[in-house]
Amino acid sequence: MTLPVVVFSAGLALITPTLAQTTFQPFGASFASPVTVAPSLSASVLFSGLSLPRGIAFDSQHNLLVVERGFGVTAFHPAANGTGILRTVVLSNPNFTQGIQVDGDKLYLSTANDALVYQYNASELAVSGEPAVLVTGFPAGGELTTHTLQFAVGGSALLIASGPGNNIDPTAREPSSGRSQVRAFPLNASLPSSPLQYTSGALIAYGIRNPAGFAFSPLGEKKLFVVENGASIDNVTGLAASFVNDNPADELNVVSPHSTPYFGFPDCTTMWNGSADPVGDPQYASFARGEQFSLNLEADRDDAWCQNASNNVPPQSSFQAHSVPLDIKFFEGRTTASGFPRSWSGDAFVSFHGSFDRTPPTGYGVIRLSTPDAPNSTYTFLIQASNLTSCPETCIRPVGLAFGKDGRLYVSSDSSGELFVLGQTTQGDTAV
Ligand SMILES: *[C@@H]1O[C@H](CO)[C@@H](O)[C@H](O)[C@H]1NC(C)=O
Ligand SMILES: *[C@@H]1O[C@H](CO)[C@@H](O)[C@H](O)[C@H]1NC(C)=O
Ligand SMILES: *[C@@H]1O[C@H](CO)[C@@H](O)[C@H](O)[C@H]1NC(C)=O
Ligand SMILES: *[C@@H]1O[C@H](CO)[C@@H](O)[C@H](O)[C@H]1NC(C)=O
Ligand SMILES: *[C@@H]1O[C@H](CO)[C@@H](O)[C@H](O)[C@H]1NC(C)=O
Ligand SMILES: *[C@@H]1O[C@H](CO)[C@@H](O)[C@H](O)[C@H]1NC(C)=O
Ligand SMILES: *[C@@H]1O[C@H](CO)[C@@H](O)[C@H](O)[C@H]1NC(C)=O
Ligand SMILES: *[C@@H]1O[C@H](CO)[C@@H](O)[C@H](O)[C@H]1NC(C)=O
Ligand SMILES: *[C@@H]1O[C@H](CO)[C@@H](O)[C@H](O)[C@H]1NC(C)=O
Repeated sequence: MTLPVVVFSAGLALITPTLAQTTFQPFGASFASPVTVAPSLSASVLFSGLSLPRGIAFDSQHNLLVVERGFGVTAFHPAANGTGILRTVVLSNPNFTQGIQVDGDKLYLSTANDALVYQYNASELAVSGEPAVLVTGFPAGGELTTHTLQFAVGGSALLIASGPGNNIDPTAREPSSGRSQVRAFPLNASLPSSPLQYTSGALIAYGIRNPAGFAFSPLGEKKLFVVENGASIDNVTGLAASFVNDNPADELNVVSPHSTPYFGFPDCTTMWNGSADPVGDPQYASFARGEQFSLNLEADRDDAWCQNASNNVPPQSSFQAHSVPLDIKFFEGRTTASGFPRSWSGDAFVSFHGSFDRTPPTGYGVIRLSTPDAPNSTYTFLIQASNLTSCPETCIRPVGLAFGKDGRLYVSSDSSGELFVLGQTTQGDTAV
């Protein structure tokens, strides 16, 4: 089945310019820093100069909604004359962090403290009234306030993530801490009369340091895949600088729907390169990529404890240390001439925000995992900053991912302030 390229949503003609603050950017802008794109793909900048674009999601009329951190929520859609993209301010509010989901007329957003729901009209690109607080009491403090949101399969519940209080947070061992976990909240036709507390939600997974991105696999039993933005172990006693430059791996975790797994944070972590420093850390030279090891924070949680899957569920696959994966999306095969090939159905795509403390830098791209269900899968970059030694500066730092109806992958890049799209050819720029 070939779907037509969606050029324009009729409802957008109703937007009254006086009600919405709208700006225009013609197609053809360059990336702020050069990128390298995989053969047969093309990448196009849709908008530049944004305020830290993070989470992204399409609404019912195929407008792309973007959380611009420190600014608010904006909507992107093609201009009627087909020469570029319009950006409309939906909400001005500096408190949104990353999480965004939209279901018909309900727009869900997260702040450092709460999950909010707004009444939203996709024809008007506007919300009405004040938001309702759906969930409150996110654990306070900590630098990682992403609080990613994701509907459960069928939209019956909202999953909400929380991060650690600090880089290596011992309180995350206990689910009651509310730290480094994913919880689910059933959604009802009517809003709750008072907000739910975060720790009252059903615990889906814990011991995942910063579960920054998650998605359900589209095939077979729909399992939750979570990308973990792992700890920096630079200051763990006894580890050499060149060892921590290449360890630990960031993780792709798969959550069993039949149990509430503990994924090991803060005690257990994943080897990327055991021979990164065979002189400074010879005890790890025999460790294979993906093997679990202990940070020895507690005497009884040693390597053997970490390697016992009854104690600590190992990742399905691992990513190079310091990649900083922030989102994951599956391609479901719905596509057009400009979209991804149908043969990529079921593949997973992950944004790598990139390292802050690795030499040379890594990440700064988007990768494809062609066998997400297989253990220890390898992956390839679809796009990456061309000159990693120049990063971060204006390099792409991908965060949010969303597939369009056109089968192209839309990507936000926070510190470069860009929104771009990856497709198979350059012909599809009219579709957002
Ligand atoms: C296309 O439409 C946009 C937004 O309405 C406008 O700013 C731009 O000047 C138009 N371009 C052309 C070539 O008409
Ligand atoms: C943002 O959060 C601060 C602190 O909680 C609050 O005072 C302010 O009203 C919020 N801003 C908006 C627009 O909701
Ligand atoms: C959304 O806005 C349009 C245009 O103003 C209006 O016709 C429609 O009734 C609104 N929808 C809802 C559910 O309010
Ligand atoms: C939905 O209803 C159920 C059953 O009454 C309740 O447990 C749950 O907290 C409600 N969800 C929300 C978001 O209010
Ligand atoms: C490690 O310790 C140094 C010196 O105290 C500090 O500057 C750095 O931020 C720490 N790194 C991490 C990842 O905690
Ligand atoms: C591990 O690190 C060492 C030392 O930097 C390097 O020589 C080796 O190629 C690395 N191995 C892998 C698989 O990256
Ligand atoms: C990945 O490989 C490592 C090293 O061989 C192994 O310990 C781990 O169990 C593997 N992971 C899975 C999910 O099979
Ligand atoms: C793994 O841990 C479980 C639960 O603590 C224990 O019963 C089992 O004996 C352990 N397996 C090994 C091989 O140590
Ligand atoms: C890459 O960036 C570094 C640091 O800015 C610069 O010194 C180097 O010349 C650049 N390399 C290329 C090939 O442009």
